[in-house]
Amino acid sequence: MASPEAKAGSDPVGGLGLARVRRAWGFLRAFRFSPGAVFDWLRLRRILEGACAVRTVAAGEDVGLFAALRRGPCTPEELRRRLQLPPECLRILLDSALHFRLVRRKGERIVPGRLLRRLWHSDGLGVAFTAYCVANAGAGAIAAIRRRPSARRGEEFYRAMGCAGADGIRRYGSYMAATASLSSQVLARTWDLRRVERLLDVGGGLGHVSRALLRRHPRLRATVADLPAVCEEGRRLGGERLSFVPLDFLTQPLPAGHDAILFARVLHDWDGETADRLLAKAYAALAPGGEVAIYEILRRRELGNAGSVVVAQWEVLLGGTGGDVRTLEDYRRRLRRAGFDSVRARHPVDLQNWGSLITARRPG
Ligand SMILES: C[S@@+](CC[C@H](N)C(=O)[O-])C[C@H]1O[C@@H](n2cnc3c(N)ncnc32)[C@H](O)[C@@H]1O
Repeated sequence: MASPEAKAGSDPVGGLGLARVRRAWGFLRAFRFSPGAVFDWLRLRRILEGACAVRTVAAGEDVGLFAALRRGPCTPEELRRRLQLPPECLRILLDSALHFRLVRRKGERIVPGRLLRRLWHSDGLGVAFTAYCVANAGAGAIAAIRRRPSARRGEEFYRAMGCAGADGIRRYGSYMAATASLSSQVLARTWDLRRVERLLDVGGGLGHVSRALLRRHPRLRATVADLPAVCEEGRRLGGERLSFVPLDFLTQPLPAGHDAILFARVLHDWDGETADRLLAKAYAALAPGGEVAIYEILRRRELGNAGSVVVAQWEVLLGGTGGDVRTLEDYRRRLRRAGFDSVRARHPVDLQNWGSLITARRPG
């Protein structure tokens, strides 16, 4: 079945009817129709969501979200002023609190959910539950929601991710490869690369996504552009038609001579200004007619997202590089601002660490 093509402003993670059937179909196809694999994945996601639920209760309690709502309904703007949180952090907290039904929407306002009200009226249980969450969330979640960590530079990326040194790079690389093992196959099936001969995979890590694309497209050659230590490790793993170019994409231009440039799960790591700079570098490196592709998990415009997005938002926040899980509209705007046109989006599956594919062309 062809991947559903997104209309402007369509909702990649919600939706009813046909969209839901298509997503379920994509889901089954991605797992090669193995119900066991689907259930394992769903169980894993429940565990990850559980961790995010704990962080949400702990952070909501610590920054005073629940206390503010106990005094009465508030709009997100009123909460932002009262709690003095960076807007993105409040969004992540409210997204999560809505998802776990600790709070709900009533018109423009946020009100406490039934569970929260019940906890308030049974002191022992409420205190024990909150104390458990606060004790288990770790200071990291609370510190991050209070003050969004700022963008890091170059090699500091790995320190921010808690993976410093050659060993850390290997560990992070295999984590990335593991989380991309199925999604890169989905990407390979979704992205039409028949007319592409030379691909640049920016921030391609050890080359796992490129290898999946190369397996599917026998005429394709791919170059991974990543930090020097990562390229060294990737080269050791080898691969036909695969090469590595060491660079720091924050300070250096991207190499020219490619028909398509891929940013797979890279732009969410960085703040908006840096994401714009990376897209501008891609534009400069492509010849007219060249294609840029962004493979990312996307969030909806309104609050209260799918579990996969809630998990991804916490991951990005705690990653500490100042990034964000963005909407399709946000990426559309950034691509157009960088000079690209013919922006198209495809949403093959909605899962944690699985993405939507957005492509655009350099005009000419
Ligand atoms: C989240 S991983 C994504 C890896 C791969 N594209 C995937 O989808 O599995 C981000 C990648 O960006 C790379 N990276 C981070 N900062 C970089 C920089 N300044 N220059 C080049 N690559 C960088 C990291 O080494 C890592 O491989």
